[in-house]
Amino acid sequence: MSGLELDSVEVRFDGYEALSGVSLRLRDPFFLVIMGPNGAGKTTLLKSIAGLIRVSGGSIRVFGLDPFSHRSSLRLIVGYMPQISEINTDIPLKVIDVVASPLRLIRDRRGDLAERVYWAVRVVELDEYLDKPFSSLSGGLRQRALLARALVTGSRLLLLDEPLSMMDHALRVRVLDTLFKLYREGGVSIVIVSHDISHCLRFDPYILLLKRRPIAFGRSMEVLSLSNLSKAYGGFVSDREFVFLGEEHG
Ligand SMILES: Nc1ncnc2c1ncn2[C@@H]1O[C@H](COP(=O)(O)OP(=O)(O)OP(=O)(O)O)[C@@H](O)[C@H]1O
Ligand SMILES: [Mg+2]
Repeated sequence: MSGLELDSVEVRFDGYEALSGVSLRLRDPFFLVIMGPNGAGKTTLLKSIAGLIRVSGGSIRVFGLDPFSHRSSLRLIVGYMPQISEINTDIPLKVIDVVASPLRLIRDRRGDLAERVYWAVRVVELDEYLDKPFSSLSGGLRQRALLARALVTGSRLLLLDEPLSMMDHALRVRVLDTLFKLYREGGVSIVIVSHDISHCLRFDPYILLLKRRPIAFGRSMEVLSLSNLSKAYGGFVSDREFVFLGEEHG
């Protein structure tokens, strides 16, 4: 089945071309990692796929639907996790309320909602923090709460913007294992924006390497060549040495 179709996607902000010429097709289910330097347009593309931004040119189809005009029906099956830097950390809510907040949308449609909330908090190992104010959590714990919030609705597609950047190494591995299992065994499609794809490599995901335009798209082993990385990150390749200028951030 058609999962994600991007056709010459273009996004402009007041004349600034943040994205152009982005095209790809992936059958459902898929596991896609979007990578590229700061300002490459990764968040912009993820928001466009989530229907939060109207593209300036080209088109996007998620399960055959334009996500901007079908946002209300898609948000019942698509989980979106914003980049932690975009979150208002003063939200006056308990962790449990942040995690469960998307379920207001689907209260009367499913009987297993409480079970979904507890499953999601177990995945990110947040059980003991449920009654704490969200604003009192550390960065990594807030990120876990936001990931759990995406998991409660993302029954068909998860759109995750740097979901693991502040988590410790061991938890990253465990959460990625769960995400991969959701994809492999549960048929959930997943898009992850990430600066650090080392943990994903064992899954050989599709990778879109972006720098306002696509630099490369394909399986990780094809895309992650020194030549492509150097085009994206402005590193340089000398005889045997590659100097990598990318960096991880929260
Ligand atoms: N709402 C907006 N209004 C104006 N410009 C914007 C807006 N959102 C993003 N931009 C610009 O678009 C470009 C791409 O931003 P985006 O947040 O998509 O980058 P990114 O690849 O996610 O970067 P990072 O790795 O830092 O998260 C940047 O130059 C940014 O300033
Ligand atoms: Mg971003």
